[in-house]
Amino acid sequence: MSNNYGERYHTNQPYGGTLVSLEQEENEKNKLLYKAKNMRSLQLSSWSISDLELIGIGGFSPLTGFMGKEDYESVVHNMRLSNGLVWSIPITLPVTQEEADQLNIGEEIALKGEDGVIYGTLTLEEKFTYDKDLEAEKVYGTTDLAHPGVKKVYEKGDVYLAGPIKLLNRPDHGEFKDFYLDPAETRKMFADLGWKTVVGFQTRNPVHRAHEYIQKCALEAVDGLLLNPLVGETKSDDIPADVRMESYQVILKHYYPQDRVRLVIYPAAMRYAGPREAILHAIVRKNYGCTHFIVGRDHAGVGDYYGTYEAQELISQYEDELGIQIFKFEHAFYCTKCENMGTAKTCPHDKEYHVHLSGTKVREMLRNGQKPPKEFSRPEVAEVLIKGMKQNTETV
Ligand code: ADX
Repeated sequence: MSNNYGERYHTNQPYGGTLVSLEQEENEKNKLLYKAKNMRSLQLSSWSISDLELIGIGGFSPLTGFMGKEDYESVVHNMRLSNGLVWSIPITLPVTQEEADQLNIGEEIALKGEDGVIYGTLTLEEKFTYDKDLEAEKVYGTTDLAHPGVKKVYEKGDVYLAGPIKLLNRPDHGEFKDFYLDPAETRKMFADLGWKTVVGFQTRNPVHRAHEYIQKCALEAVDGLLLNPLVGETKSDDIPADVRMESYQVILKHYYPQDRVRLVIYPAAMRYAGPREAILHAIVRKNYGCTHFIVGRDHAGVGDYYGTYEAQELISQYEDELGIQIFKFEHAFYCTKCENMGTAKTCPHDKEYHVHLSGTKVREMLRNGQKPPKEFSRPEVAEVLIKGMKQNTETV
């Protein structure tokens, strides 16, 4: 680890005790990249490249590679790695049977992106087939193909490749690169800022008033907020990451104390696995150095697959073992009687006074150039979203 901050503050330690880094020194890296050009190679999806990056930079510590059969089955069935550590989502490398047949156990394989760049290597330890129905049912709680995460399970290759990886090139985060820090860097940043307690916030949406409210409630209790939006693959009707990133900068500029918030991207793919994904999200934020993590209503959910507080219920059972404190918030809304944001815990008024809009309704309004009410979305945010949605439809 790059500093001794973690040792001093136990809850800030990386998950499993050590922050993984699978990058080589410049010299070694160049040698390996040269060698990799003559290795057999695989072309990975952007989803797998993002998993490779997160393993390599330590976001998925203590994982050091794609999961083997023992870990995979243990995670699917028991939500633990085979060494007993809580882990909720399999991190695997799917390939087709044809691709798998061409590779030998023991060989080092170059891992390329769709752009032809070699991002890393895998030393192949295992190839194994898996039961898609079982994975879908256990991890996502359903085999319904209308679920975007489940659909992915059925679309991907039938064989998982497993083994340790090396990260040789980090994906280029282009326009987001000013907001890219790896876990060692966020840890250093928190230490430099003097933040002893940091709350992490996951989102795949623009920050609306309810998000702002729960973040600020949390900020009343801790030193700083890491706004850590997921910018990897999301489902097609989610608001694109570039538009969201602009909206985050605008809301932070107008409504947040500059010295108590940092915006850093989380370069992962969204699984929409609700309760199980909430646990993964918390583990990753612990690795980034957060001491606290927010789980609100239907965290990482989609449609009606999960109960409103199912993620909170599941993560509560593992909170001590995870070593990150979970701030659980009930459904937040603006109450026109209170003239305030609140939840059922703090507002005594009937539902008719609560401003509530579904995500679908909001997206429809934005697409039509209509601003959602200011009780739902800050006007500056709505403006960015309307402009962004317009540009996106024009370019489609
Ligand atoms: S997601 O990544 O969890 O799917 P989303 O943007 O929907 O992203 O939510 C981000 C966080 O805010 C999650 O912890 C979610 O539970 C919480 N959240 C979203 N809307 C509300 C709300 N109205 N009240 C309370 N918590 C909310």
